[in-house]
Amino acid sequence: MTHLDSTSAAPALELTTTSPTVSVIHAASDVAREWWRTAVIYQVYPRSFADADGDGIGDIPGITSKLDHFVDLGVDAVWLSPFYRSPQADAGYDVADYREVDPLFGTNADFEALLEGAHARGLKVIADLVPNHTSDDHAWFQAALAAGPGSAERARYLFREGQGEDGELPPNNWKSIFGGPAWTRVSERAAAATDGITDGQWYLHMFDTRQPDLDWEHPEVRSEFEDILRFWLDRGVDGFRIDVAHGMVKAPGLPDWDGDVAMVEGSSEAPGAVDTEPHEAAEDGSTGAGNSGPMFDQEGVHDIYRAWHKVLAPYDGDRALVAEAWVEPLSRLARYVRSDEMHQAFNFSYLTTAWDAAALRGVVTASLEASDAVGAPTTWVLSNHDVIRHASRMGLTGAAVRPNGIGKNDPQPDAELGLRRARAATLQMLGLPGSAYVYQGEELGLPEHTDLDDDLRQDPAWWRSGYTEAGRDGCRVPLPWVADAPGYGFGPTGKTWLPQPDTYKECAADVQRATEGSTYSMYKAALATRRAKDLGLGSLGWVEDFASSSSVLAFVNNDVLVVTNFGEAPVALPEGAEVLITSGPLTTTGDRTGVPQDTTVWVQV
Ligand code: NOJ
Repeated sequence: MTHLDSTSAAPALELTTTSPTVSVIHAASDVAREWWRTAVIYQVYPRSFADADGDGIGDIPGITSKLDHFVDLGVDAVWLSPFYRSPQADAGYDVADYREVDPLFGTNADFEALLEGAHARGLKVIADLVPNHTSDDHAWFQAALAAGPGSAERARYLFREGQGEDGELPPNNWKSIFGGPAWTRVSERAAAATDGITDGQWYLHMFDTRQPDLDWEHPEVRSEFEDILRFWLDRGVDGFRIDVAHGMVKAPGLPDWDGDVAMVEGSSEAPGAVDTEPHEAAEDGSTGAGNSGPMFDQEGVHDIYRAWHKVLAPYDGDRALVAEAWVEPLSRLARYVRSDEMHQAFNFSYLTTAWDAAALRGVVTASLEASDAVGAPTTWVLSNHDVIRHASRMGLTGAAVRPNGIGKNDPQPDAELGLRRARAATLQMLGLPGSAYVYQGEELGLPEHTDLDDDLRQDPAWWRSGYTEAGRDGCRVPLPWVADAPGYGFGPTGKTWLPQPDTYKECAADVQRATEGSTYSMYKAALATRRAKDLGLGSLGWVEDFASSSSVLAFVNNDVLVVTNFGEAPVALPEGAEVLITSGPLTTTGDRTGVPQDTTVWVQV
């Protein structure tokens, strides 16, 4: 542990005992021990994780070659973003064949080898299922185009006649999450493919034009996806992350909606996108991260998950479903993880909460209450492939706090502040009971790429927003593995599908592993301690001394006291306190150790 000498006067805040009085809001439990209740799950974004064949795009053999990285780090499972056959119009979230690995990433046999290697090391593997929409290259959509209005083929999607005299206006006023209208008009004439004239029906796509939404009222859609689940379950996957889990069922009649299509991921409409003030968590944990409107969080989605729960149940090994649902308030999100539905739901209210003691206390309390009410774990997350990496997001001050990507001309984050806060936030998150996700590269302290050339951008949100939002490419840059190798060791040729910034050198895995006090060593120590002390199934009691403090957040989970200082004055720990892990250098004043600003410590109770 590193200590900073401090000559400052006695700190204003202190703890005098390592057994402080706490208000317990969540009790420890060892009744239900399914792996997903406590797992730390590492998100792999396949195109940017590791490249085995040298084409500059990551692939499945690349992931298999790095399985020991997950073991060394100490995670329990990996979730792979989509690797299925796809034209890659939205980086694989536009699936053309749900049962086949895209040749870009390898073969089905490569995936089975990955699964085998992971299981041999005790790691679970979660696949990504995209049921809200297919690719326009999917056989069903191609058949729908060819078959014409009123056909059985079109009934699997949301084709509608347009409004206006000649149907020249879209069926309703919905907007795509990526910007622009949510409807595209097709032609009903065979010549359409060549003359480009559109004069026919319109189809709904809540995302890109190339991602037509399926009609989940159609029984064939339901049975096809149950079959896809079984296809991968039979091969041994341990669970599925369900994309846009709150979006599959739309309100009857598809009524107009004048509200925002509020979503952080790739959204030009995110309510936080242009705010200059941090979003504080309300009593119910809401931060403005939820979607609303007739296209989201409809009652009917829950029937789908009840059916899927039954599909998974007969398989051994506690297979799990994870909801990607941008739903608020947290009590609404918790409905996705009722005992006969899914198992986890990403807590995006937590991800979007400001770096503020009171706001975080609010969202953590509301999260645990909401998930306890349905007997589910809370699933903490700070970064993923849709949001600015938290090492950069937390360094944005006085500017937009939740923009969709950062471009060269946007306000730039304070890198040092961002990393310090990100480490403190991670150590706090890993001290909480429940499950947690780690996005590839965050264990290396990786920042967002914030000065990518605009002409290299590949996120459809960039052009669909009229080039006003940088989009998500900055958090998807290929990982650095070796500081002194071309492409920082991403693959054998040095090629990378997006360029890596120079700052990646010091984040390279070989440097991080070898450096005492590195972000990697903090993650590793935290994961080992979390496991040894069973924090995932632990308790949460807020330390009463700081109950109303605006600058300290402190809680006890099992026999670990977690203290985060947000304020300028160091927080003095009790004399003789045994610090287990710290997110940054500590201060010493006399014989007391102090926790400086933007730092979290774990202390033995
Ligand atoms: C959520 C995924 O995480 C995101 O990357 C994707 O663009 C949308 N869903 C659409 O599939």
